[in-house]
Amino acid sequence: FADPTFSDAVIHWQKQHGRHALPWQNTRDAYRIWLSEIMLQQTQVAAVIPYYQRFLVRFPDVTTLADAPAEDVMAHWSGLGYYSRARNLHQCAQRVVAQHGGTFPSDPDVLADLPGIGRSTAAAISAFAYGTRAAILDGNVKRVFARVFGIDGYPGSKPIEDRLWERAVALLPDRDVEAYTQGLMDLGATLCSRGRPACGSCPLANRCAALATDRVAELPMRKPK
Ligand code: ADE
Repeated sequence: FADPTFSDAVIHWQKQHGRHALPWQNTRDAYRIWLSEIMLQQTQVAAVIPYYQRFLVRFPDVTTLADAPAEDVMAHWSGLGYYSRARNLHQCAQRVVAQHGGTFPSDPDVLADLPGIGRSTAAAISAFAYGTRAAILDGNVKRVFARVFGIDGYPGSKPIEDRLWERAVALLPDRDVEAYTQGLMDLGATLCSRGRPACGSCPLANRCAALATDRVAELPMRKPK
């Protein structure tokens, strides 16, 4: 499934039209990137920004976070929801300090072993902080791939998810992995939305199987009942 024209289109679009000034962009600080990716797992960008900024004032680095009382961490998370993320965040900080000398590992497989970091989050952290060539596949990216490649079936099911991961890995560019990764996220979050996709502005419209067959509203398939 390799196709450099796919990543070229995403990277070009990201540089022209993607988001470039989010508070966690334009840094290589793995601690800040990790914090943002955990907050963004189940929460939208606009809601995350004030929490992210307050959190960093109180916990400016991984050692400060690791040493803080759990109640203090929870208090700074309060209102964001999905509180297991905050407990895992605190434990992850303690493991990074105890087992990795206070530096987040660059290897996505090592990152994915830490609390609260799954395969896609590990790849995003590694790509943004270290430029590692690693594939992401969050809910937004699954939607982009299901539509562009016309993949039927529920993307949360194991066989479909395996097929999507295979695509995600094969499509990785040889360079500019940060812009590519951010571009996929931004396309999925903005143009290729669930309800009102803006196919007229999409850099992948000319190769989108769902658009060509008038199935954009149908894909990705919903969870079977
Ligand atoms: N969602 C998950 N990660 C993100 C990021 N780095 N920027 C914007 N939205 C995101």
